[in-house]
Order: sequence, then structure tokens, then C-alpha cells
Amino acid sequence: MIPVIESIGIVGAGQMGCGIAHVSALAGYKVQIYDVSQDRIETALATINGNLARQVSGGKLTDESRTAALSLISGSADVNDLAPMDLVIEAATEDESVKRRIYAQVCPVLKPDAMLATNTSSLSITRLASATDRPERFMGIHFMNPVPVMKLVELVRGIATGEPTFSAAKQYVAKLDKTATVAEDFPAFIVNRILLPMINEAIYTLYEGVGSVEAIDTAMKLGANHPMGPLQLADFIGLDTCLSIMQVLYDGLADSKYRPCPLLVKYVEAGWLGRKSGRGFYDYR
Ligand code: CAA
Repeated sequence: MIPVIESIGIVGAGQMGCGIAHVSALAGYKVQIYDVSQDRIETALATINGNLARQVSGGKLTDESRTAALSLISGSADVNDLAPMDLVIEAATEDESVKRRIYAQVCPVLKPDAMLATNTSSLSITRLASATDRPERFMGIHFMNPVPVMKLVELVRGIATGEPTFSAAKQYVAKLDKTATVAEDFPAFIVNRILLPMINEAIYTLYEGVGSVEAIDTAMKLGANHPMGPLQLADFIGLDTCLSIMQVLYDGLADSKYRPCPLLVKYVEAGWLGRKSGRGFYDYR
């Protein structure tokens, strides 16, 4: 039987967690966000409010829908508040040890029949599932950034994912009015397997002096009709996330074509993580 999903728990109040909360509440789901501090929760609620208001002023949403969505979203730094949720989506940082620690903390709290999903952009679903108490009710539900705008969600089964779990996730994505694609459990799935090597190549292009930051981004915006240049997009995704995805591709596929560009490594080591840290290929301060 396909599980009925009426409420969504979200672990991690960063940009992806905020986006998933936003679209889930707009689709009528009750949403509970969990993060380690009340400060992060307050920031997340303000971000979601700002993004909903942006859609109202752009004519995409009525003010009533914005108010209704906000009334469905709560947040707290108490993991026990996730207990009644039907589907919990982990949207924490792209670090396997962090995700494993989260599952150890969250699983004992959840209802036995609750589904648990990860928004990982590259890690093995089967391996992450093995760190939970419910591999048959665990899978990848991978949203794209910015979640309120991007139409795609990748669905990824682990080796143990049950069909009822997969069907429930498909129904959830359809209710969000997004399109699901199915990807097999290979490093970085489909979108990032293709997108991140392109971004990494753009960074090599800068590293080797082929063009300036502006020249590379202009070339790809006007020459290939990309909405953002690859370096601007890297800053937008977060350079730490870009690096960890390249490392997963390099380690998982054992091919030198996925070697992270040394300049990307250096920027991350410097703490230049893109938009979120105020500095990346561009300066946001
Ligand atoms: N919440 C709500 N609405 C948002 C938003 C957000 N966070 N961000 C942008 N929007 C809306 C804007 O309000 C605007 O709406 P209107 O059309 O009603 O005015 C619309 O989106 C376009 O935004 P802007 O006018 O501000 O700017 P833009 O035209 O340059 O578009 C963009 C911004 C949508 C981000 C566009 O540049 C774009 O599509 N960039 C590429 C994004 C992309 O490739 N994402 C995938 C990244 S990879 C990934 O996510 C996978 C991973 O695991 C790393």
C-alpha cells in the first residue's frame, strides 16, 4: 500500500531546506523544520517569507496563498518535533559523516512507518540507507536550487527502497507541480554528473588563463544561452558543495576527467564558498 503523506519534516534550514519547506507548504503540506539552533530556524522562516513575498510581488502568488503557506510552516531546534511527520527530508550539508550522525539522531524519533529521504546531490543512496533503521522506506529526493523556481526533482532508489516508498515520493513531487526524473544510484545521479564537470571545466578555463571570470560567464550566457554563467552558478550552488560533488565523482568513477580543479580546492580552503560566505568567483560583500 502506498503510504499517505500529509506532513513533511525537514532536517537542515539552509537554502535547500528553506526551498523544500516553501514548495511543500504551498502544496498544502504541514511542514516542520528542524535545525540545531533557534537562530537558524528564525533566519530560515524569514528567508521563506521573503521568497514567498517575492512571488507575490512578481504576480506568481496571491497574498492569501502566501499567508496560508506560512501558517503551515513551523520550526524548532527540538528533534522530537519531527515525531509526527509522515515524510522527513534530510537537507543537511553534503558530508556523509554529518548525514550519518543526523540519521542516528532522527531515526529513533520517527514513527516506525515514516519515510525518510535525503536531498543529497551526489552520495550513494544505498550507503546512506544502511545508516538508517528503515532502508526500505528510504530514498533520494533531490531538488534543484532555487527550489521554488526549478521544475525538476530527481528520484533515486537505493537497493532496498520499496515500491510503496517510491510511489509515495512520486505522488509528493507531482503534488508540488514539479517533474520527476528517475536516476539510478550512481555518483551525482544525472544533473550533477553532467553539470558539475562543466562547472569544473569553467574553473580550469579560469585557472589556465583562457579567460577572465567575466569573459567565461559572458561566453556561456550569450554563447550557450545558459541563464547564469558557470562561475556565477558555482558561487550560487556553493563552492564547498561543488568540490564535494567533484570529489564524489572522482572517487566513485575513478576517472581523471573528474579531478577537481586545484583553484576550486584553494578557494574552498580559503573559506571562499561563494554567495553564502560573501566571496567566491565574485565579491558579494
Ligand atoms: N524563491 C522564489 N522565487 C525566486 C527565487 C527564490 N529563491 N529565486 C528566483 N526567483 C524568481 C524571481 O522572483 C523571478 O520571478 P519573476 O519571473 O516572477 O520575476 C524569477 O525567479 C527569476 O529571477 P530573477 O529575475 O531574480 O533572476 P533571473 O532571471 O536571473 O533568474 C534564476 C534567476 C532562476 C536563479 C536563473 O538565473 C537560473 O535559472 N539559474 C540557473 C539555476 C540552476 O542551474 N540551478 C540548478 C543548480 S544545480 C542544483 O541545484 C543541483 C545541485 O545539487 C547542486
